[in-house]
Amino acid sequence: MPAHSEPNNSHPSHTLHDPVIRVVGAHKHYRLGDRDVRALAGIDLTIQGPGFYAIMGASGSGKSTLLHLLSALDKPDQGEVRISGQNLATMSEKDLTLFRRRRIGIVFQQFNLIPTLTAAENVELPGMLAGDDPATLRARSTELLAALGLNGRSAHRPDALSGGEQQRVAIARALLFKPRLLLADEPTGNLDSASSKRLWALLAQIAQGQAVAGNGDSEGMTIVMVTHEPAAAAYCKRVFVLMDGMMRGHFDTPGDPEAVGIVASQYQHLVSAHAHNGHAAAHSPGHPVA
Ligand SMILES: Nc1ncnc2c1ncn2[C@@H]1O[C@H](COP(=O)(O)OP(=O)(O)OP(=O)(O)O)[C@@H](O)[C@H]1O
Ligand SMILES: [Mg+2]
Repeated sequence: MPAHSEPNNSHPSHTLHDPVIRVVGAHKHYRLGDRDVRALAGIDLTIQGPGFYAIMGASGSGKSTLLHLLSALDKPDQGEVRISGQNLATMSEKDLTLFRRRRIGIVFQQFNLIPTLTAAENVELPGMLAGDDPATLRARSTELLAALGLNGRSAHRPDALSGGEQQRVAIARALLFKPRLLLADEPTGNLDSASSKRLWALLAQIAQGQAVAGNGDSEGMTIVMVTHEPAAAAYCKRVFVLMDGMMRGHFDTPGDPEAVGIVASQYQHLVSAHAHNGHAAAHSPGHPVA
């Protein structure tokens, strides 16, 4: 693989016309002992631009696997993943490392904070590891922590923060380098329902370009959240539904966090349409075998 077949990664080759996310025909299998586990069976996904998007699906449907492909933590066996026009398969390991560090933000169910570092130091850590100027990093972490409602918490260590506060620190860390794309895998999986709602509202604001100044484009940033909760998806503008490693369709929500019932029934409608009419997806080469 040529080391620099694409233009300098610090200035990605995207144009306004390239979708932020474009996945075409992505397959992913895992070997488990002598078994072949099919996690993704030919996924197509296009997300054109800024907004808050959900990927919903049952446990084991392939949501985390898909997010791993989008974040270049893993590679598809077949198919293509492009982020802002850049084909991840053509990037060198060095460029992929830079891509993961600077071009995308990732948030998981586990907050993954370093317990011995303060909130500010946790936010700054990726920049410290990259050798960035400490004073510039401190200014950025101060700005981010304030924007995420963590004023006065910057010197706290994680064990002196609530779960919701810890996850906001993790989000601040993910936003350190002003990525265009933030990926979140069940970000409220360890939070109570009140903290969860605050977090979803915050992500929706960030996606709209509010909350965090200078983040993403002026029109906002792209946030993709994996969830199995209609209450979470109701904060998003579009919901993509995964089943058995296949994209079963998508729908647009009413755009109202209170409209949980509508989102739940839209989701259920797509799921049961395919459960009753599973062969509708017979064009897919990866049609379920078991
Ligand atoms: N490293 C691995 N080795 C073997 N099988 C795996 C591996 N990772 C995932 N799988 C399998 O691939 C399928 C999809 O897994 P994935 O983690 O993407 O599901 P998910 O939709 O995120 O589920 P959950 O909601 O439980 O997190 C599952 O059948 C899972 O058991
Ligand atoms: Mg998962």
